[in-house]
Amino acid sequence: MVLKNARVFTFQGIITGGVAVDEGKVVKLSKEPESLRADEVLDAKGFLLLPGLIDAHVHMRDMQLSYKEDFYTASCAAAAGGITTVIDMPNTIPRTCSLKALREKMEEAKKKTLINIAFYAGFPSKLTEVKQMTKEGIVGFKLYPHDPFEEIDLANEEQAQIYFKAAAENNVPVSIHPDDLETIKKLQSKLKLQKLSDIEIFLGSHPAESERKAIAKYAELGAKTGCHIHFCHISSMESLAAIKKEQGRGVKITCESTPHHLLLTKEELEKLNTFAKVLPPLRSKNDNIALWAALLDGLINMIVSDHAPHSLQEKQKPFLEAPSGFPGLETLFPVMLTKVAHGDLRLEKLVEMTSSSPSKIFKVGNKGMLREGYDADMVLVDIKEKWKIDPEKFYSKSKFSPFKDWKVVGKVRNTFINGSCIMSDDEITAPKGIGSIIQIRH
Ligand code: DOR
Ligand code: ZN
Repeated sequence: MVLKNARVFTFQGIITGGVAVDEGKVVKLSKEPESLRADEVLDAKGFLLLPGLIDAHVHMRDMQLSYKEDFYTASCAAAAGGITTVIDMPNTIPRTCSLKALREKMEEAKKKTLINIAFYAGFPSKLTEVKQMTKEGIVGFKLYPHDPFEEIDLANEEQAQIYFKAAAENNVPVSIHPDDLETIKKLQSKLKLQKLSDIEIFLGSHPAESERKAIAKYAELGAKTGCHIHFCHISSMESLAAIKKEQGRGVKITCESTPHHLLLTKEELEKLNTFAKVLPPLRSKNDNIALWAALLDGLINMIVSDHAPHSLQEKQKPFLEAPSGFPGLETLFPVMLTKVAHGDLRLEKLVEMTSSSPSKIFKVGNKGMLREGYDADMVLVDIKEKWKIDPEKFYSKSKFSPFKDWKVVGKVRNTFINGSCIMSDDEITAPKGIGSIIQIRH
């Protein structure tokens, strides 16, 4: 297949020309597409061709949570959002905390997916499974210290050290949702005695200090065991300072942030109620500013969606009972492209944050760049098109978003997996199962 008449993004500059794809790989990047022979020629109409996005934090759900989302609907949402590879989270039912559960999930995903999926796991009850799950190709392990889901007690320092050491020995990272259960519990009981609104109780019990405390604690575990620690969805100024300090003393740390933590504040909660309820919570304008500075500075390693779909019924529960999170696969790219269109973010930086950097950090393989020999996971974008975000049109089962009605600039026209078009002008154009499961070699 040849895609001609495109503006092809490379880190050396944009080439006006085309790409040739054979057996799923980019075999040629050329200024003269006429020199590329092919069975099938597509006219890119002058649109911008970028590497498909790699979203390193996605709750695909499925299994017993398929009422919230399943591998097919999530992969359609990813395709619509220009995302060709995701890393799936393990807080499902059943939890991905054993080799058996991991294999079951992989099998289910393989049948349904349009895109590439790699998997996180939770720490298994049997220590020996750390190695087996690594061999099966997980990206790494994920921990929720504020809401532990493992059968083993990782709040126990000794136990945690044993598991982190095992992760280090197997050369896999441990990703942390940085929040501190003790702090949350203490604050919750104190705040519930005061005359506060539910939103105030929620925000007050997940302060930036709790995030910072967890960062200090797990960075120390990283320092003791030599394990690579990845901090998820960094939301506050204090956390950025803490990460910088820990990196300064040589701890191997990477981190991510999200469009919502970069662009929204807690004021949204008053307007959108549970539809803006997320963990970590949306914070202040000053936190937005600090996160942007850290992004441009290189402290933040990637931007992820933290796509966390829930049913409408669940989101309509009273505020403190409603689950946290909202879908993000279909908004990540357009809201960030809009920052590029407005001149607040360089396109190279966006591609680095959403493609090349997550690919390198999580060893996803020959993905995340348009380069000869690399997988032809690509996205064709009209960077000038203006449109409005309408959650009713989402492929995700979750049809709400804190970015509802946002006027954005930049629209994904086509998404390709291994050179096959899976989405064209908002329509899914490929069958279930065309995607693949990525097994990482560590
Ligand atoms: O808001 C959130 N929702 N934050 C998380 O870390 C988990 C996620 C979920 O699984 O719903
Ligand atoms: Zn998450």
